[in-house]
Amino acid sequence: MSQQPEPLEERRVWVGTSWKMTKTIAEAGTFIDAIAAADLSPRVQLFVLPAHTSLAVVRGRLPADSPVRLGAQNAHWDAEGAHTGEVSMRMVADAGASLVELGHSERREQFHETDEIVALKVRAALDAGLTPIVCVGESATVRAAGDAAAFVAAQAAAALRRTHPDEVPQLMFAYEPVWAIGDAGRPARPEEVAPVLSEITDRVARFSQGRRCLALLYGGSVDQDNASAFLEADNVDGLFVGRAAWTAEGLLRLVAIADQCVRRPADPELHDAW
Ligand code: PGA
Repeated sequence: MSQQPEPLEERRVWVGTSWKMTKTIAEAGTFIDAIAAADLSPRVQLFVLPAHTSLAVVRGRLPADSPVRLGAQNAHWDAEGAHTGEVSMRMVADAGASLVELGHSERREQFHETDEIVALKVRAALDAGLTPIVCVGESATVRAAGDAAAFVAAQAAAALRRTHPDEVPQLMFAYEPVWAIGDAGRPARPEEVAPVLSEITDRVARFSQGRRCLALLYGGSVDQDNASAFLEADNVDGLFVGRAAWTAEGLLRLVAIADQCVRRPADPELHDAW
């Protein structure tokens, strides 16, 4: 991370949400219409990951020049083939995605996605011109054993196995401790996750010979009460949010908080992250 703050107008913070398996096409349309009508801060890069079924509809309802980026929550690594029920990177790009989320803990747990599968998907996403959002995070058991930073950094390194160091600026990571995600999750305290964020940053920089990934996001029970604390943490370029951003009002509140954080006058601690 750079030592000096960038000029205000060049700084960007990311705020995005995966809708997971929550919205019909009609519900997705109502949500995105509210986002399209909002006055969005140029300092906040907003992204939304609808279900595959509503991706093209959401794309169609945003103006062509909308700054909102869309993505898929998953896609297969093969370009095409007999994979019943799956969609390819090319297909989600065709439906309007420029991003693709890979390796979310729910996919790792419920669909047995391994580090190798995630690495294959990262390769396929880059080949299809998509920006991967690679999710990494440790379970409560790994954390209790004191291995969180090493485990998560190893997950990040494994995801990069099929990439070239030059490609690192084309992908994002999202650190989401498994124990902090969802209804059963406990929100993390920023000081609990700081060493892991730092280790991810170092490991990625080592692999890429000093190049930074496009962004390192934090996620897991992020809401309007804790958002600014995570945004002000070192090594955090933005937020990846589930439940608190599943209404347009909730997402726009988080965008407003992010905008306030990025506008805040220079504070050396705060700007270490940029
Ligand atoms: P949550 O989900 O914000 O509802 O905890 C986060 C995620 O799974 O990305």
